[in-house]
Amino acid sequence: MSVHQPTLRFGVIGLGRAATSMVPSLAAHPFVRITACADPRPEARERFSADFGADAYANAEELCAAGNVDAVYIATPHQFHAEHTIMAADCGKHVIVEKPMALTLDACRTMIDAVDHAGVRLVVGHTHSFDPPILRMRQIIHSGKLGAVKMVNSWDYTNFLYRPRRPEELDTSLGGGIIFNQVPHQIDTVRLLAGGLVRSVRSATGIWDVQRPTEGAHATFLDFEDGAVATVSYSGYDHFDSDELYDWVGEGGSAKNPGGQAAARRELAAMAGQDEASLKAATGFGGARQRHRGDRAQDPSRHHPHFGLTIVSCERGDLRSAPDGVLIYGDEEQRFEPVPLGRTVPDKGRVVDELYDAVVQDKRPAHDGAWGRATLEVCLAILQSARERREIALSHQVPFRDE
Ligand SMILES: NC(=O)c1ccc[n+]([C@@H]2O[C@H](COP(=O)([O-])OP(=O)(O)OC[C@H]3O[C@@H](n4cnc5c(N)ncnc54)[C@H](O)[C@@H]3O)[C@@H](O)[C@H]2O)c1
Repeated sequence: MSVHQPTLRFGVIGLGRAATSMVPSLAAHPFVRITACADPRPEARERFSADFGADAYANAEELCAAGNVDAVYIATPHQFHAEHTIMAADCGKHVIVEKPMALTLDACRTMIDAVDHAGVRLVVGHTHSFDPPILRMRQIIHSGKLGAVKMVNSWDYTNFLYRPRRPEELDTSLGGGIIFNQVPHQIDTVRLLAGGLVRSVRSATGIWDVQRPTEGAHATFLDFEDGAVATVSYSGYDHFDSDELYDWVGEGGSAKNPGGQAAARRELAAMAGQDEASLKAATGFGGARQRHRGDRAQDPSRHHPHFGLTIVSCERGDLRSAPDGVLIYGDEEQRFEPVPLGRTVPDKGRVVDELYDAVVQDKRPAHDGAWGRATLEVCLAILQSARERREIALSHQVPFRDE
């Protein structure tokens, strides 16, 4: 990109935990300016405005109507993704919407129609399929040097279920649990690596803690149209931590101390009686527990973000994402290919680049509405397969478009 590139003016809708993690990548982008924010929490608006000099609105409608906003990043709770995307598109704003794209395939269709009708661009993200080592693995696959993808395995073990939650985050019927919240990262990644076209899904899900009665684990088998297969597993029960297999680098790319296992469960138990939704809100902008992210670009201990162990087997070699690049295990040798680090920790810059390139260079985004809907279709099929104990055929899949 040259220095003469136009600037995209962004508004941020929803100033909670997700926004604290994405906004540094927006702020660090050379051709983005943050001009507005919206959230019903006054303390969040106040903090955000002070940090970024942005106009603040108490609701999404007013922000979408603002004249100094070209694009919005929507990080409101899942149930608002469709409404806010359609609202923004109707006002002529380009959109990055957080995962999951929506809670139903019909809602995804309506979002796609709204964006198409308005002639604006939509990117569904962040998911960890944007992580630079994953994108590099896709480039290696696309080069054809290792032959066709035959198998992908994705494993992640975290403390997800014991972080403070809003009530709806623990109710599957309202979009709660890992299948809507965490599994989109895995499905987006596995679909990107194996080409996108999942033929069928067989899954078992786990609801193992009666105090938190939503899915906290799954084991899923994906069959792709071209015969490739994938296994995808996740546990958020704060027992084993798969960062142990990732050189003790955490999801965001920061070094992590070993021995934190079960800490989230203990911390939550210690806060028993307090309102969990308020504890969660405290991690967003203006909250007492807001984490200061993105300001560690010079930190020597920083690495790429990741979502557990991801291994791809091709006809003539295996690929594995690593904290600083990609490991390639070929027929004759093993080698490590470093991948340059981004501007922030965690690095979500590729999501911003994808929308920017779509708007400024008229490039169709790879993670567009049809892509996001296909990933949601897999997630919904996981729930159905687990419920009915059978394989589910899919019909809304789209291929990944390599550059
Ligand atoms: N990609 C990632 O790595 C990642 C990480 C965390 C969350 N997320 C996604 O981001 C979304 C938000 O999750 P979170 O954990 O940040 O939740 P959160 O509760 O921490 O934040 C949500 C924010 O939205 C605000 N809000 C609620 N209703 C609103 C409305 N009608 N208009 C404007 N603002 C409103 C809340 O006040 C809050 O500040 C979810 O869909 C989640 O899946 C993505």
